Amino acid sequence: MSETLSAIPSRGLPLSARAPGKCILFGEHAVVHGAPELVFAIDLHTQVFVRASDAFRLNNDPEARQRNGYFRSAVEQAWAKGPPVDVRAVSRIPRAAGLGSSAAFTAALAATFAAAEGGIERPALAQRSFEIERGTQGVGSPGDTSTVVAGGYLAINGGSGDPLWSVRAEDHRWEVRRVPDPNWVWVVAHSGIPRSTGDAVRAVGRRLAREDGPELLAEFASVAREGIDAVAQGDRGRVSELLRRNQELLREVGVSHPRLEALIEAAAPAAEAAKLTGAGAGGSIVALPVPGKEAELVRRLARAGGLPFVVRAAPEGVALVE
Ligand code: PMV
Repeated sequence: MSETLSAIPSRGLPLSARAPGKCILFGEHAVVHGAPELVFAIDLHTQVFVRASDAFRLNNDPEARQRNGYFRSAVEQAWAKGPPVDVRAVSRIPRAAGLGSSAAFTAALAATFAAAEGGIERPALAQRSFEIERGTQGVGSPGDTSTVVAGGYLAINGGSGDPLWSVRAEDHRWEVRRVPDPNWVWVVAHSGIPRSTGDAVRAVGRRLAREDGPELLAEFASVAREGIDAVAQGDRGRVSELLRRNQELLREVGVSHPRLEALIEAAAPAAEAAKLTGAGAGGSIVALPVPGKEAELVRRLARAGGLPFVVRAAPEGVALVE
């Protein structure tokens, strides 16, 4: 087993863990319905600090279990018998932006709870983190949570070779495999428009239930399958073509947004391709910069009103911090 798949060891409280965010390149939404997806962990992180306390608190908020569904779900599902804890979360990942802030928080918190209760293997942590996230959102795939647990580039329901693990829900089972890292730099930019993943997922579900739904889903799947191969081969030209095609499909199912389209247009002179990433309807875009034009791309996106970040793959998933 590779080093990044080491188990989360057992430790006593107080504990700290950090997890990377994520960026979806191909197959968001379609993955919820069983199609392949390509995601990579990004080098923006969330870190949590957990210590025993007299009451449950998150960032000093004693009402956090009522206000924050991820916190509530994590405590209920992964700390049911544990004593009250005080949690501090610090994050460089913008919230509700489609860049994995909730998955990173969930996996980091689940990792600390598991460590305090005797440690956990990564496949079990991926399953648990998915259940916590789904317990809050009600819908969704394990793409985000598996990626922040594993690190690197991952194919969900695609790729080749032995799976790292599989994740189960009542109605679905997803297989998770590593994809070779092409060592590319990407630029992501948040539109500043928050949105609900659950609402967007349900709206796409209704769209895919229409007559041409199966055909659309098959197109999403074929773009993602080819995208996984093209990234594994480091073929930037092919990847760019497929990113554009994926964006057309996302437009067609109604999850683009005028602000996302404006960012994609602003990126064009300095990017080989750009598309929305994550649930859409707001949130962020991802762009593959023309080599040497990374700074120009960042300037263009900022001038168009986005909040840009230059990102690379984070090779390591969630980990305890000394
Ligand atoms: O919540 P987001 O924006 O990171 O998007 C998640 C990706 C979806 O495919 C839309 C939902 C899912 O759970 O896979």
